[in-house]
Amino acid sequence: MAVTIVGAQLGDEGKGGIVDVLAERADVVVRYQGGDNAGHTVVAGEETYKLSLVPSGVVQGTIGVLGNGCVVNPQTLFEEVDELRDRGLDPELYVAARAHVIMPYHRVLDGAEEDAKAEDDLSVGTTGRGIGPTYEDKMARRGIRIADLLDPDRLRPRLEYVVSHKRAVAEDVFGIDEPEAFDVDELFETYREIGERLADEDMVVDAGRFLDERVAAGDRLLYEGAQGTTLDIDHGNYPYTTSSNPTAGFAATGSGVGPAVIADGEIIGVIKAYLSRVGEGPLPTEIEGELAEEIRDRGGEYGTVTGRPRRIGWLDLPMLRDATRASGFTGLALNHLDVLAGLEEVNVAVAYETDEGRRQTMPPTTAAWAACEPVYQSFEGWPDVDWDEVAEEGIESLPDRALAYAAFIASELDVPLAAIGIGPDREQTLVLEHPFDEA
Ligand code: IMP
Repeated sequence: MAVTIVGAQLGDEGKGGIVDVLAERADVVVRYQGGDNAGHTVVAGEETYKLSLVPSGVVQGTIGVLGNGCVVNPQTLFEEVDELRDRGLDPELYVAARAHVIMPYHRVLDGAEEDAKAEDDLSVGTTGRGIGPTYEDKMARRGIRIADLLDPDRLRPRLEYVVSHKRAVAEDVFGIDEPEAFDVDELFETYREIGERLADEDMVVDAGRFLDERVAAGDRLLYEGAQGTTLDIDHGNYPYTTSSNPTAGFAATGSGVGPAVIADGEIIGVIKAYLSRVGEGPLPTEIEGELAEEIRDRGGEYGTVTGRPRRIGWLDLPMLRDATRASGFTGLALNHLDVLAGLEEVNVAVAYETDEGRRQTMPPTTAAWAACEPVYQSFEGWPDVDWDEVAEEGIESLPDRALAYAAFIASELDVPLAAIGIGPDREQTLVLEHPFDEA
């Protein structure tokens, strides 16, 4: 039985909070794509956990798995595990033998490529974590996988090949020279030791087999998507995307279970009540000026990974219609309704006006999306109330107009609401239909 959580927008929809709440009833929480570019925040009472690689669900004591579709920076992995241990948690965490490793040269090349693109106004605004270059090596079949770290005889020749290739690109294409990131002897020693720690801690598994056995035993799997649908390498606004597939179809490929495991379960699209974007690329519903600042500050819209201020926009229904199609949402979690409280009016883009007429969904090219003029429907704003009280009393005590806004989105997408988020705390996620009861 599986529940899959997918970002319906541009990342930062509050997936971490939803995963944290649902993880309480899950046996295993699985990440299937991305790496430490994700920023997941879990607030449990006085404690705030900021995780970028380790699945958010482990904060609840659930077993965590980083699937083969992930790219893993082992330094981040150990830092996060050590910090959780220092704070009294004991995460049981496994990493797929088939997952690819983010190496120091990937991060150097990520930065170099962004700098080079900036000269021609082509930057993506990546998180600088080496995500793209690692997936690039995976596809080119020159990557280093987690299993390679446990086998020094295999690691050494693979490193020798790939590092000479990478060094040539760094020097000849980008004109950079960072000896440490390209020093085979040093990389070999460091990563062999990392392999030893992974082996000592029994962290490496054949993820597909591990999860298959769990499914057969009747366990509840919670799939934690990172980033969001409009950042998907295939379904997002290429090239302003990440280099993996956050959409639900990849939950199977990125973890090694059959697609029916995902499709037979529930697929929850997480939506923020407005939009934010960190990084470059168009945003047709972008809001500028004081209003954007107000929403940014109220919503704490600064990157968890990079600290960058996020751009702000109104909710975009054409984007959500595409996200619903691409992942087949069976339920929605609508977050941050509290952030919009107190505004006189709240707008929603219900369609786009284009040179070819009105359209209900996003065009397939980014240039065409950038040229779309949003058609807005306005809603009267709702008052700022005591959200802790609402959290205690439940959905009936939500301001009527906030509830009407949520109901409008669900009805437009023809997908029921599974949860509503009215604050960052665990207690402030109102679960209407627990997906593990439905699955
Ligand atoms: P990369 O994933 O670091 O290559 O970055 C590619 C694009 O995805 C950039 O626009 C990033 O800002 C964006 N991105 C990556 N991870 C996240 C995330 O967790 N939240 C929001 N945006 C993200």
